[in-house]
Amino acid sequence: MNVKEAIKNRRSIRAFKSTPIDQQTLDTILEAGRLAPSWANTQTWRFIIVQDDNIKNQLADNACAPESRNNQVLKQAPVVIATCSELNKAGFRDGKPSTDKEGYWFMFDAALALENMVLEAQELGIGTLYIGAFDAKGAARVLDVPEGYACVLLLPIGYSDEQPEARPRKDISEIVFKNKFGLR
Ligand SMILES: Cc1cc2nc3c(=O)[nH]c(=O)nc-3n(C[C@H](O)[C@H](O)[C@H](O)COP(=O)(O)O)c2cc1C
Repeated sequence: MNVKEAIKNRRSIRAFKSTPIDQQTLDTILEAGRLAPSWANTQTWRFIIVQDDNIKNQLADNACAPESRNNQVLKQAPVVIATCSELNKAGFRDGKPSTDKEGYWFMFDAALALENMVLEAQELGIGTLYIGAFDAKGAARVLDVPEGYACVLLLPIGYSDEQPEARPRKDISEIVFKNKFGLR
């Protein structure tokens, strides 16, 4: 599978088989995250691999409402890659934010690492779901994430038990301008 196919075939997966993911496959996915670019090469991301069922259930119950779909997906997936970032590094120079995006570049860098992992997983036949709608402080409590780090995203991964249709995207003509915003 080439990158174009991985991009095209990826879907959000919300139903996983219980089949475990072997360590080599997991390592390959994590390596794709490790190799992502980041602000001044700060690499502020940290990946917590949650495989222990007890901790995974606690994570689901403390980060997402009990009856929510996110809660169920987190419990069902064999592995959750909880992605955290160190704060006040990406986008900073001499300890101060160096752009008008202030301290938020850690989100951007984490997203680059995550998309690398998602596409690598796709190549390996593993489904993924970005979970952004969760209580980051609740997740941090369960996972012992220290002060100075934020839980950015929970990524349940596993062999897919569904084949969702592609969701629609805006036409290229709606999202691309020529030379100036709004010019086509
Ligand atoms: C940053 C981000 C956060 C998301 N959070 C959630 C979430 O909390 N729960 C969920 O079911 N899907 C979540 N999604 C998945 C989106 O709903 C999904 O990517 C979008 O509907 C397009 O569908 P597709 O991924 O199958 O192409 C999130 C996606 C992104 C990129």
